[in-house]
Amino acid sequence: MKRTSILPIVFVLSHIFLFANEKPKITIIGTGYVGLVTGTCLAEIGNSVLCADINVLKINGLIKGIMPIYENGLETLVKKHSQTGHLSFTSDVPDSIEQADIIFIAVDTPMSESGAADLSAIRRVIGTIAQHINHYKVIVTKSTVPIGTSIWIRDLLETEYNIPSDMFDVVSNPEFLREGSAIYDFLHPDRIVIGTDSDTARIYMTTIYQSFIADHIPIIWTNITTAESIKYASNAFLALKISFINEMANLCDAMGADIQDIARAMGLDKRISPQFLNPGPGFGGSCFPKDSAALLYMAQQKHLPFFTIEAAINANALQKHKPVQKLLKIMSNLENKTIAVLGLAFKANTDDVRYSPAITIIEDLIKQGALVQAYDPIAMENMRLVFPNLTYCASIDEAVSQVDAAIIVTEWNEFKAMDIAHIGELMNNRIIVDARNILDKQTLQNNNFIFDYIGRSCLRHEY
Ligand code: UGA
Repeated sequence: MKRTSILPIVFVLSHIFLFANEKPKITIIGTGYVGLVTGTCLAEIGNSVLCADINVLKINGLIKGIMPIYENGLETLVKKHSQTGHLSFTSDVPDSIEQADIIFIAVDTPMSESGAADLSAIRRVIGTIAQHINHYKVIVTKSTVPIGTSIWIRDLLETEYNIPSDMFDVVSNPEFLREGSAIYDFLHPDRIVIGTDSDTARIYMTTIYQSFIADHIPIIWTNITTAESIKYASNAFLALKISFINEMANLCDAMGADIQDIARAMGLDKRISPQFLNPGPGFGGSCFPKDSAALLYMAQQKHLPFFTIEAAINANALQKHKPVQKLLKIMSNLENKTIAVLGLAFKANTDDVRYSPAITIIEDLIKQGALVQAYDPIAMENMRLVFPNLTYCASIDEAVSQVDAAIIVTEWNEFKAMDIAHIGELMNNRIIVDARNILDKQTLQNNNFIFDYIGRSCLRHEY
């Protein structure tokens, strides 16, 4: 695999790239969340990027400036670089492969309940690359792939497709983008992780991330398997942190302590850090649930226990039921009661409802015989696909009108800024479960609300 013999050529090539300002041409395959944000941001840091997808409708939309997903700042950057010519779109995947020096694979690898990954989309992409590889290319796995996938890709190309090993290198370069702040995260990374055992690939990757290197952003150079593992370790650790603070919050409710003061005090300890210590209705989204399950599955495949992550997953499953349990403590019976669900997205600033706690909460309400009036600033269309028959409302006012209680599920700014006195006037009963701890306790008390948070011991004190 090593091509020390061609290093002098590579050295010259790299200098052509670096000094003639002609960067390697990048193709991103897959214009989903990861691919589109990555491609757009690579263009923003000075690269020439072609985003390819077999979905012609999506590509035609992108060419017209229509975004397939909501992400803060994405549309502006796509339009900007479509105009500068740094960013273009195509549904001709074979041609995009032929043009590329570096190919980022950003297709979906959905997980089953067991945590096993479906690599069929990657397999198809590799087949197409094998057919159209016309010169040396760096093949980068960008979306989260099970540990071992990049090596598997290399073996597949070499053994199944007989591609000579000096025609390509495989690199793992995991993303650490949060939905809602993905553009910011890409452009202000804490670190960049690059897994490769090839000096040639290292030069190519250095070239495309040149501006970050100049800004002294730490680059973690490591082997491919370690790079893949770093992504899982990071996500699973954050999931663990959230489950810990959620369980601590539940204990606070039982003991009369306040989780917000606890989290603040813990967070001031630099070893802990204040981030990801917000208790809530459980973590959701396409990443933490999937990646935690995948890590556990991989450990199980190796006959190893992973007690901590297993506990985080189990705690999270229970946490999603907390909001309705809390409402039942206040109301005892939800039969034929109308409940406003404020927030459907798995977190604020995204329209994504995958694994959203809102899904469990709505299911729980329906099981209890309640009627749901739902509102979210941007995620209602996606939730309609999950619950087509719910009552979706056009505003907070409409959602809380004449309801018997409300549950806040997502921490949207719009909910933080609600006029509580006005909301109280619209509701039949002034009952709120604030599962994100965003409303002011004093204001709720002043307006005669019966309310509960997560971990702030309200029920214990108010009743
Ligand atoms: C997460 C990671 O934060 C990213 O670094 C990673 O790149 C991404 O997964 C991925 O693997 O692609 P994301 O799922 O977009 O990003 O959202 P987060 O902001 O991490 O939130 C995840 C879940 O945890 C949400 O449901 C959120 O409400 C919950 N959360 C987060 C809490 O309940 N409390 C917190 O303190 C923080």
